[in-house]
Amino acid sequence: GTEKSFTGKKILITAGPTYENIDPVRFIGNHSSGKMGFDLAKEAAKRGAEVILVSGPSSQQINIENVSVYRVTSAQEMYDEVFKHYDNADIAIMSAAVADYTPKVKAAEKIKKNENELIIELVKNKDILRTMGEKKTHQFLVGFALETQNEEENAKQKLQKKNLDMIILNSLRDEGAGFANATNKIKIFTPTEEQSFSLKSKEEVAKDILDFVTRKL
Ligand code: PMT
Repeated sequence: GTEKSFTGKKILITAGPTYENIDPVRFIGNHSSGKMGFDLAKEAAKRGAEVILVSGPSSQQINIENVSVYRVTSAQEMYDEVFKHYDNADIAIMSAAVADYTPKVKAAEKIKKNENELIIELVKNKDILRTMGEKKTHQFLVGFALETQNEEENAKQKLQKKNLDMIILNSLRDEGAGFANATNKIKIFTPTEEQSFSLKSKEEVAKDILDFVTRKL
């Protein structure tokens, strides 16, 4: 059955948000809790995988043999950590909510309030997943798409543009889906297939995702 279907496989998983520092006190972040990625890591380990979990700031905990956790803060740090492990991975599942932009200047001291408006200039971060797609050799590469509009179109575009084998769409239009919930509602796309799932706990969603991956390997 599926119980030990990942024995001998190395799975790289990302989880959580990234924090992009503005100054020593403030950052730009997002609402990802890390739960989706941690639940994927737990389920993959249960199925016999060796798991590398790279997580942004999250209160989620994991203490399982076969799961190595690397905690990072910014998108650049996540990028650097991911590419230490990518070459050796058989499967990569990127559930982190990575910031697309970061402040051009990180102020060394706390920014003081004055009478004026404050404008923070943002520069683009590297796209970790897209770079993985470009460097892909043998890996089965899975991305997430978090959308609020034109969901399916955007997800399919990301599948193609980022050279993925599979993408998991979750939409903030669906109640109980996305972040800040213990539940999620997903639709999976591969270049040739699509499958919708009902609203479930993130533990169950992790099982559905790994069942699907197993079938595609
Ligand atoms: O953590 P939880 O609270 O449990 O919530 C889970 C989740 C909603 C965060 C998760 O299910 C999810 O959707 N993660 C992806 C969020 C996201 O940033 O989606 P996106 O559509 O902006 O990005 C598409 C893909 O590119 C993602 O796999 C993302 O990891 C990746 N990406 C994006 C930008 C960037 N600079 N580098 C990337 O690798």
